[in-house]
Amino acid sequence: MSAPVTLTRYLDEQRQRVDQELERMLPPAETFPPSIHQAMRHSVFAGGKRLRPILCVEAGRLLGGQEEGLLRVGSALELVHTYSLIHDDLPALDNDDLRRGKPTCHRAFGEATAILAGDALLTLAFEVIAEPGICSAERQLRLIHELAHAIGTRHGMVAGQVMDMEATHQTVNTQVLEFIHSSKTGAFLCAAVRCGGIFANAQEADLARLSIYGQKIGLAFQIADDLLDVLGSSATLGKTAGKDDHLSKATYPAIHGIEESRRIASRLIEEACESLEPYGERAGRLREIAYFFIERAA
Ligand code: IPE
Ligand code: IPE
Ligand code: MG
Ligand code: MG
Ligand code: MG
Repeated sequence: MSAPVTLTRYLDEQRQRVDQELERMLPPAETFPPSIHQAMRHSVFAGGKRLRPILCVEAGRLLGGQEEGLLRVGSALELVHTYSLIHDDLPALDNDDLRRGKPTCHRAFGEATAILAGDALLTLAFEVIAEPGICSAERQLRLIHELAHAIGTRHGMVAGQVMDMEATHQTVNTQVLEFIHSSKTGAFLCAAVRCGGIFANAQEADLARLSIYGQKIGLAFQIADDLLDVLGSSATLGKTAGKDDHLSKATYPAIHGIEESRRIASRLIEEACESLEPYGERAGRLREIAYFFIERAA
């Protein structure tokens, strides 16, 4: 029997598959008008862990989904994620100069092009998912609905981003903090997991288990992001460390302290893994990914 592939190697291989799919998905840089395609490519190919596609593929694989289609849907999610990063970094939001180890989109291409590159990536994602033949039209509609809801204004990403912005320089209570984090980051990560399930035509009971897993790892992911902002370096993170304190953001370390934030994140990951118990060993990778979410260095 061959030795099991380590998580690091698995993540690396999956990331490469996603990168190849993204390469096929994005118009070549010289496509007219070239400035927008260069800006889109700059941000998508600056790096990135590709965790949302990986979650989508792995959750779908667990439930017997077809690999090629899962990779396509998962990679479309990465376009949405990159849009969210480009807009998050804009001067009007977090005003960041560094992303994925490279100048942010607006630093490289100007603010107007960066806004439009974000818009274009978001739009392209829906074009890809709606393309005829990816899966049944009914499932495509479910995927589109799932994604749109997760990044919207009712407990979705935009809701979280608005609240994150409005909570700056404010004291928020722990419930509001949890709402911000589970909206701005958790909802989309949860949707990545659920989209894998939906693509695989999962039963409601499976989707319900994936939802618990997704919500918990999603919240833990942003807690870990806040901790890395305090404890990591810009060189390792590929983005400016210490930014949250500088901008007086409402974060887990700011409100709960470092140790308690770590405890909360660990508990969430344990609970997420418990929800996968019915799948036994077959959910091994999803469990490993969950722990990676809070153990990662970047
Ligand atoms: C960063 O996400 C933004 C958050 C939601 C915290 P990632 O840490 O997944 O960023 P990349 O894709 O690897 O650059
Ligand atoms: C952003 O959270 C979450 C998004 C919806 C993009 P942060 O503002 O903490 O993400 P980073 O630290 O800039 O990646
Ligand atoms: Mg932000
Ligand atoms: Mg930010
Ligand atoms: Mg952050």
